[in-house]
Amino acid sequence: MAIIMDGNGRWARARGLPRVMGHRAGIKSVRAAVEQAREVGIGVLTLYAFSVENWKRPSDEVGTLMRLLNEYLRRELLNLMKNEIRLNVLGDFQGLPEQVQGHLSQVMAKTRDNKKMLLNLALNYGGRSEILNAAKQVAEQVKEGKLKLSNLDELTFSRFLYTNGQPDPDLLIRTSGEQRISNFLLWQISYAELYLTPKLWPDFGKGDLMEALRDYQRRERRFGA
Ligand code: FPP
Repeated sequence: MAIIMDGNGRWARARGLPRVMGHRAGIKSVRAAVEQAREVGIGVLTLYAFSVENWKRPSDEVGTLMRLLNEYLRRELLNLMKNEIRLNVLGDFQGLPEQVQGHLSQVMAKTRDNKKMLLNLALNYGGRSEILNAAKQVAEQVKEGKLKLSNLDELTFSRFLYTNGQPDPDLLIRTSGEQRISNFLLWQISYAELYLTPKLWPDFGKGDLMEALRDYQRRERRFGA
């Protein structure tokens, strides 16, 4: 399951609060979604936390998002261990602030053997740059004679994506009423079912996640057949 967590800013504005308060409130929904996904046995949960385009936001908002992320990682480690959840990052890791890289590396190392659920945080993530990056690595391997172009198929190509070896998402949820993909998991969502809800991310709770899953269960998936 993958989620585009949208609407934090609007949630805050509707309450006359600064945008960053919306992100702070959004963390509660992150906790709820992680807990509930783990509870119902979702294997992989991917959350779109920061896109490559998000650097264009005012620097104080970017700074707050990075601080919130650090805070989340610090506070959540025990829960991740208790619930046997492994943390992973999708995106350009080296482009993140050093302190954030440090925290993420620690939590990834400590949780690496956890097997009940994989939690991907998409950070400094862009779908097109992920595919471009994969194409460059493939070209490099072909040039070095490590890969034959005639052997390159979809499965082999997907090994060069950040999601190397992971199953594609079956369900993509987007909150806040927007009907866009916003450069998220472009390769991986080819056959994902979409669930769009007008709820703003800070208002999206465990019950809403269950509603999305019930809706998904009613879908008939044909994968083009
Ligand atoms: C979209 O709302 C949300 C984001 C760009 C960031 C999501 C971040 C969090 C939920 C908090 C931190 C995350 C973790 C994993 C600790 P928006 O600001 O685009 O809202 P708007 O469209 O209403 O302005």
